[in-house]
Amino acid sequence: MARKSIHGQWSSRWAFVLAATGSAVGLGNIWRFPYVTGENGGGAFVLVYLLCVALIGLPVMMAEVLIGRRGRQSPMNTMRTLAEEEGKSLHWRFLGWMGVLAGFAILSFYSVVAGWTLAYVFRLGAGIFESASAVSVAIVFDQLVADPERLLAWHTVFLVMSTVVVSRGVKSGLEKAVRILMPALFLLLVVMVGYAMGQGMFTEGLKYLFEPDFSELTASGVLEAMGQAFFSLSLGMGAIMIYGSYLSSHASIVHTSVTIGVMDTLVAILAGLAIFPIVFAFGLEPQGGPGLIFKILPIAFGRMPGGEFFGVLFFVLLVFAAWTSAISLLEPIVAWMVENHGLNRVKASAYAGMVAWLLGIGSLLSLNAWSDYTVFGRTFFGLVEFLTADIMLPLGGVLIGVFAGWQMSRQSTMDELGLGDGFLYNAWRFLVRYVTPVGITLVLLNKMSDLF
Ligand code: PHE
Repeated sequence: MARKSIHGQWSSRWAFVLAATGSAVGLGNIWRFPYVTGENGGGAFVLVYLLCVALIGLPVMMAEVLIGRRGRQSPMNTMRTLAEEEGKSLHWRFLGWMGVLAGFAILSFYSVVAGWTLAYVFRLGAGIFESASAVSVAIVFDQLVADPERLLAWHTVFLVMSTVVVSRGVKSGLEKAVRILMPALFLLLVVMVGYAMGQGMFTEGLKYLFEPDFSELTASGVLEAMGQAFFSLSLGMGAIMIYGSYLSSHASIVHTSVTIGVMDTLVAILAGLAIFPIVFAFGLEPQGGPGLIFKILPIAFGRMPGGEFFGVLFFVLLVFAAWTSAISLLEPIVAWMVENHGLNRVKASAYAGMVAWLLGIGSLLSLNAWSDYTVFGRTFFGLVEFLTADIMLPLGGVLIGVFAGWQMSRQSTMDELGLGDGFLYNAWRFLVRYVTPVGITLVLLNKMSDLF
């Protein structure tokens, strides 16, 4: 397969792992995982989440990387090329379209939350949390989200940052940033867990995360655990597919995917271990909603020695983690605009950024001025988050699995995975052919029956 991507290629297999880990590790792990875990009662939710990562997420990730690498174009064009080659319906290109839609929608609220993170760098730097009570820490957050102008300013800053990096291409900047910042974030999370061990109710936190209480688990909880697995691993919308399209043909898709999956999961678990012991130590509720980490972590930073420094560092690193994820949300769209419309990267990134920016205004207003407008009990923000993470990404995942498992020939997928025809290959094929589609369909149906 001699196809080459017109957008370039990663300098090494390791560069791909770093970039894809950069995409996977982000607000999804540190902001979203603790808050949805808290809303769904802990242990049983975490268990379902881990099962989803292992049995559905990882096989879909391998499918996404292999499709991307074989097609070597934006998801729309890759799907069309491969469908053509395999003699299948060209409608498969709509999978790429759904991904673009999901990408814009995710980026729009993602950037708002990344904006909170940026704002917190300065709040921590100003030392306002020193020995602050849980109540006053919560007020700082509530004041921030009540102020649309501030939110808009930070949302704008973050989107500009993201479009600038994407406009410069995947290799310059992106690779270098991830190389240093990801390990730094990891280390700092370990420091935070250390603090939670010493000062928080660590055993309570551990029990909350790892002792499943199935009476807490609802149909929505199962759906959200699955959605969270897709969201956290960046699957189902073409981000990993486009990164796969820049991967060298010699690299092992299985090794790289497992590495990315393990790192992503580890970061989420560390975030949970850093947060819940503090939640319990201060007698707070785990179901603090999307503001959870912003209401909890500053309490810890306000009390630990050197907290101001660690606090600023932590939120700076979180901004970087969000940044490297946002870039991967834009990349499939930008690659497509370059391929099909002859735009240069700078223009394409600017246009894409603008669309996400506009959509994001809906999200940020729904936190204040529009907070009374709800659909199915969800604000615009909540609705976009639910529709993308819990519906579109799993749906995209099923289709990717079905395409790789049922539409591509055995030979094509075997060539890409490079595992031969042994147990591992057949296990993968079984998972994408049966477990992924059946599992996801059951969870979606189960949730729908919950609605009626
Ligand atoms: N995985 C990213 C995170 O955890 C979010 C993301 C979702 C990025 C989907 C790309 C595609 O923050």
